Amino acid sequence: MNSDVFTPELAGNSPSPKAACGSLTPGLAPRLAAFEILLRVEQGAFADALLGHRLPAFGLRDRRLITSLVLGTTAWRARLDYEIDRLLAVPGGNLTMPVRVVLRMGIYQLRFLTRIAHYAVVNSSVALAKHYPHTRPAAGLVNAVLRRASRETVALPDPKEDEVGYLSIAYSHPRWLVERLIEWFGIAKASEIMAADNAPAPNFIRLNLAKGTPGENLAKLESEGLVVDSCGPFPEMAVVRRGNSIDSRAHAEGLFIHQNLASQMVARLLAPAPGAIVLDCAAAPGGKATHLAELVGPSGRVVALDKSASGLRKARQLALKLGHRNILFLQADVTRGVPFAPRSFPFVLLDAPCTGLGTLRSHPEIRWRLRPQDITRMAELQTAMLLAVSELVAPGGILVYAVCSFAPEEGFGVVRRFLSCKPEFSVDPMPFGGLPLATSPDGYLCLSLLPAAEGADGFFAVRLKRSR
Ligand SMILES: C[S@@+](CC[C@H](N)C(=O)[O-])C[C@H]1O[C@@H](n2cnc3c(N)ncnc32)[C@H](O)[C@@H]1O
Repeated sequence: MNSDVFTPELAGNSPSPKAACGSLTPGLAPRLAAFEILLRVEQGAFADALLGHRLPAFGLRDRRLITSLVLGTTAWRARLDYEIDRLLAVPGGNLTMPVRVVLRMGIYQLRFLTRIAHYAVVNSSVALAKHYPHTRPAAGLVNAVLRRASRETVALPDPKEDEVGYLSIAYSHPRWLVERLIEWFGIAKASEIMAADNAPAPNFIRLNLAKGTPGENLAKLESEGLVVDSCGPFPEMAVVRRGNSIDSRAHAEGLFIHQNLASQMVARLLAPAPGAIVLDCAAAPGGKATHLAELVGPSGRVVALDKSASGLRKARQLALKLGHRNILFLQADVTRGVPFAPRSFPFVLLDAPCTGLGTLRSHPEIRWRLRPQDITRMAELQTAMLLAVSELVAPGGILVYAVCSFAPEEGFGVVRRFLSCKPEFSVDPMPFGGLPLATSPDGYLCLSLLPAAEGADGFFAVRLKRSR
């Protein structure tokens, strides 16, 4: 997803799409779309999937506003609710969820989209409340609370009384997660991570190595008016600084895909030789499988396996768009057996399901859905999957284990348990440079990234080798 979120210049006054606008107040159509998405996110839907469905009906400016409203309001939920509860005439008053969402969106705009005039925020929020029968009776309350919010600031909790409580509201993260982050990294680093979780993700792209050279593809993007810089240690890694990459011709032609820099490093850590056969054991929706297909080239093969049929459909569509013919797709559950002989693949990737703690910028709702016990639950699943897929690695073969989380239990903890069960595997010291490797607490080299403002997502990956 394009990551132009939280940008303050989003006034949202461009004309609404014909089908959706009719005679709506200018600026209301994008807010209606954001409101409807936010209500569905409250019911358990994923924001990025809903944005993907709704955004194409809008112009660029409105798309940016909707994205910002949805991701920003979701990320800042605790902070916004804290303010709402203190701005109500009756503190903690009984708000229905739709009314609360209208208020959250309004306060988010007042506090974070500072280029939208306060009167425009109040008016569009009242218009939004009046638009639906179930929020209409609260239009007066919305008006009163937002007018008050535009005049007054709300003091944050006193850190001297309750430091965790303060951080939890100041950075809008659940209290248990603040406690875990402090336990893992200390207060200063935990605060940096939480600030990065609330900042816009850079618009990283991966240039398609199978369609022209990276230099040629960069030139094509620039000829469309996009400002793009190479970034990261490999030629396919780039970041769009300015311009609409999603609607570009280069995107339609499959010259690049949007993929976080951290995620791009995983295929490079596996580093299959050209012509090699690779097994990707959790391949959907295809980000890393297509990257691997480019690295092995037309004479190599990637077997892209996943238990999700719908995820594999997306991966197949992506491969088609990128022009890759060297990927075989297979639906299977790796913990229940796969139709391959043991020890038959020289390169295996397990990009395992995880808590997603490293990706809270693009999936802000995750922080409100995760429970402390989910970290342990995911680590159990990851260990089971890693043990199962390790059977498929050929003697002397490489197995990369990766998760888009920086929770020690999901990274170092899983590797520790795996190595204690499988003495025939050891961590492979990277035979080549380029990747920003770190030393784990157990003393081996691995990719261990924390989410950084302006930087990559949080990620963990390690390269394991089976003895000959
Ligand atoms: C983190 S995602 C993989 C992302 C993918 N590698 C990419 O780069 O686009 C994890 C995937 O694991 C799959 N999965 C979960 N449990 C599985 C199992 N037991 N066997 C196979 N796939 C599984 C999920 O369906 C999901 O697609």
